[in-house]
Amino acid sequence: MEGVVVIKLGGSVITDKKKPYSARTEVLDSISSSIAEWSGRLIVVHGGGSFGHPTAMKYKLSSTKYKRSGEGIFETREAMQQLSSMVSHYLGQHGVKTYTLPAVSLLTMEGDPRRDLAFLIKNILNSGLTPLTYGDVAVFRKGFRIVSGDYLSYVLSSAIRAERVIFTIDKQGILRNLDDPTSAIEELEFKQINQFVHASEKDATGGFKAKVSYARMIAENGIDVFFVNGFDKDALIRSLHGERGAGTLVKGKK
Ligand SMILES: Nc1ncnc2c1ncn2[C@@H]1O[C@H](COP(=O)(O)OP(=O)(O)OP(=O)(O)O)[C@@H](O)[C@H]1O
Ligand SMILES: [Mg+2]
Repeated sequence: MEGVVVIKLGGSVITDKKKPYSARTEVLDSISSSIAEWSGRLIVVHGGGSFGHPTAMKYKLSSTKYKRSGEGIFETREAMQQLSSMVSHYLGQHGVKTYTLPAVSLLTMEGDPRRDLAFLIKNILNSGLTPLTYGDVAVFRKGFRIVSGDYLSYVLSSAIRAERVIFTIDKQGILRNLDDPTSAIEELEFKQINQFVHASEKDATGGFKAKVSYARMIAENGIDVFFVNGFDKDALIRSLHGERGAGTLVKGKK
């Protein structure tokens, strides 16, 4: 679908990952205003930050294991729904009206994209609404498992053949050296991306390493991927326009 951008709002941006259940409402407000300024079509995905990850980890839920028991599913999903309704609220305040899709509505019982996913998204986009989804506990044939916002960004961008995907994080882009905030790489081929994974704190969805592997799969599909600092309004707007120099560009395979 022409001109559609998928933007993932990192949990590291919209919450303080060090403090349980702390949403950065001023950041949500500012990002929402940037998104509202941009006139193109958009799909918004967000991560769990200090809402989803600690709750999921408390109940040993993860993106790699299936669980039959319902224990902790309510608590984790409730935390995510709270965060998601804040995202939706701030977007709405700026005139961006969302249509929230829980992960289970996008996937089959095997965890693959549902067959008519592109059609579903197109109908929402064509109505002028903005599809919104988030990392969630979904239910599959084998049981409950977390699907990350990064994975859903990959699924959605592939299904609709997005123009580009933007991962907002709390760093200036993909850093060569995690201790040096000025070391962001401007441009990368998808084949080079794996070398830049540094240790990050353990969370419920595989942290930066998993993000990078989805980014690689998106770029291999021919879609440009940006890693930008979600706190930097200018960088965010530039990446929405597909301009280089806003964080790191992982070039889609040509
Ligand atoms: N080379 C790198 N460049 C940038 N960040 C890196 C790098 N290697 C590891 N990281 C870590 O990845 C983190 C971002 O990924 P993380 O999964 O923690 O956040 P997120 O995806 O925004 O949150 P959520 O999973 O809740 O959506 C950064 O805060 C940083 O610590
Ligand atoms: Mg993450």
